[in-house]
Order: sequence, then C-alpha cells, then structure tokens
Amino acid sequence: MIDKIHHVGIAVRDLDKSLEFYRDVLGLHVHAIDTVEDQGVRAALLTIGESEIELLEPTHAEANMAKFIERKGEGLHHICFNTPDVDGELEVLKQKGVELVDQKSRVGLAGMICFLHPKASRGVLVELATPMDVYRG
Ligand code: CO
Repeated sequence: MIDKIHHVGIAVRDLDKSLEFYRDVLGLHVHAIDTVEDQGVRAALLTIGESEIELLEPTHAEANMAKFIERKGEGLHHICFNTPDVDGELEVLKQKGVELVDQKSRVGLAGMICFLHPKASRGVLVELATPMDVYRG
C-alpha cells in the first residue's frame, strides 16, 4: 500500500546555496544532511508537513546526479512514495511486470528504498521508501 508522498527529490548543483532558499527563505527545517558515498550525492532532507523535500548535490563529476544535471539542468529529480512495506510492494510490482531500477530494497536516506524505472511512470523517476522505524525486513 502506498499511502502518501514521502518526499520530492530535487537535483541541485550546490547544496549550501540551495539551502539559502529552501531553509532561509522558505523557512523549512533541515532534519538531516548526509553524504551517500555509493550514490555520489550529498543530500539534505527538509520537513514540510508530513512530507519532505530532498535536495541532492553530486559529490563528483562522474556521479549519476552530476550527469542528470548536465543533461536536464537542476530541478525535479524524483518523487518518493511512502509505503509501510517496501519489499512487499516491490514483489507486487514485479508480478505486474513493472520495469524497475532496483530489484531489491536498499538503505537510503529515507529508510529502505527502491527506484522504479521512469519508463514505468511516464517519465518521472519514482522511489518507494519505508522509514527505518517502520521497516520489518
Ligand atoms: Co529520494
């Protein structure tokens, strides 16, 4: 079951500069900043009601996020849907023949996560996440 938008991911060239808008101008609270080495991103999560904004800065020129920004510029990168059972949801999607990026859930900033292929969702990269305090894998 997908029950809400967990976060909206935005690709940015410079995380600190981006915080000058999202944190300082909009007044959103930053509740996490972390570097995810294997994904080549430094990311900040900002609270907005029950959802979040995720700002994603590439850590090096070869990172996927850097290539994304080169191709499309800064902006909307993905939408993440919350589910209490990311693994169960993945199984259902596999049975329905949905094209996936990740065949198995893995650790991400938002908990246990996986990505669906944007071909499946009309050009929008979709992430599913189960927060760690809910995950029962
Ligand atoms: Co995300």
